[in-house]
Amino acid sequence: MSGQDDFIPFFKPNIGEEEIRSVTECLRSGWLTTGKFAKTFETEFARFAGFKHAVALNSCTAALHLALEAVGLREGELVLVPTLTFAATAEVARYFNAIPVLVDSNPDDFCMDMNQAERIVKRILAGEPVKGVPERHNGPRAIIPVHYGGQTADVLKCRALCDEFDLALVEDCAHCCPAYFKDDDRWRFAGSTADIACYSFYANKNITTGEGGMALTDNEQYADRMRVMSLHGISKDAWKRFSKEGSWYYEIVAPGYKYNMPDTAAAIGVNQLKRADEFREARANVAESLTAALSGIEGLTLPSQRGDAIHSWHLYVILIDEDVFGPRGDFIERLKADGIGTSVHYLPLHMHPYYIEKYGFEPNDFPVAESLFERMVSLPIYPTLTKKRIARIADSVKSAQGAKS
Ligand SMILES: Cc1ncc(COP(=O)(O)O)c(C=O)c1O
Repeated sequence: MSGQDDFIPFFKPNIGEEEIRSVTECLRSGWLTTGKFAKTFETEFARFAGFKHAVALNSCTAALHLALEAVGLREGELVLVPTLTFAATAEVARYFNAIPVLVDSNPDDFCMDMNQAERIVKRILAGEPVKGVPERHNGPRAIIPVHYGGQTADVLKCRALCDEFDLALVEDCAHCCPAYFKDDDRWRFAGSTADIACYSFYANKNITTGEGGMALTDNEQYADRMRVMSLHGISKDAWKRFSKEGSWYYEIVAPGYKYNMPDTAAAIGVNQLKRADEFREARANVAESLTAALSGIEGLTLPSQRGDAIHSWHLYVILIDEDVFGPRGDFIERLKADGIGTSVHYLPLHMHPYYIEKYGFEPNDFPVAESLFERMVSLPIYPTLTKKRIARIADSVKSAQGAKS
């Protein structure tokens, strides 16, 4: 058993003096809600990601919700999402009484299987049954691919699919700040194929604001709508109403939400963003060291790095062979006893009680995701993970192998 000082947490934010200085400046300024830091964060993030418009929000979940609202999702419409994802990707469709249609994963990069997505769209349009899709629905309306762990899904295929069938493409880029993918000979920012791309700055993300998110788009109408809906559906720039240049007068144009990003969070974000590429490189180095330390251990499958993607290395997910290591739960407990935090990304949506009860799913409806889930463990990865600690993780993994009874 390790002492608390020796504990290797699953994630660790990288907060520097600049972030602390900016938050202090924000606190001293007396303006804590959305203000100049949020506006600067939006401008800088839009430039960094190569989009025309950015809307800073209090979570990626809010960004996904507003994105679906902006593209006009309606009750009974269908939204394709991978089953191997976090709750947020699919729950936002339910906010509209729309129907999330689950899609299995690729066995190599764990992203949404785009060939299956295409087959599902075609089956639905042909009126053929698809598991989880009720007989009465209002047709497919959007796809939300997730760039699992920081490696982009096949977004070029997804874009083509959306264009062919007139679907909105909202990308869940929660793991991608930054990640890139190859389009012919050109590296493009993850999210750049989307109608609206949604990023997360939750505490464990590559860059963080504690809680926070951003919706990016080149479409001015979508941007305006998301901005208005992020603040109670009240008229543009309502966030300014208590400032020098603001006015008390506002008009409600739609029943909106309260999703704006406070300046205390944005003050962290503007500084994190400056180091986003540096953090990514540091994570890539940690991933390389983890791979070097773990390779050769029998019964492990290590994460693959595709040639057409620059990985954000948000997650480092290994697959364990239970014949070699014993049950996955025991493996996690063993690492925990050695003072190593781990996680599992994810229990697939179709295996959660809500989705089982609502749509009648069974585990083997999505056999790839089910099989990945049973074997996967996310190991710690962050820029400050030292070589010494990486060696400790590898030693613990090795001894977990020996611990099989
Ligand atoms: C794939 C994915 N999508 C969406 C989210 C939601 O992000 P947020 O916590 O910023 O709402 C997360 C958060 O962990 C995530 O991992």
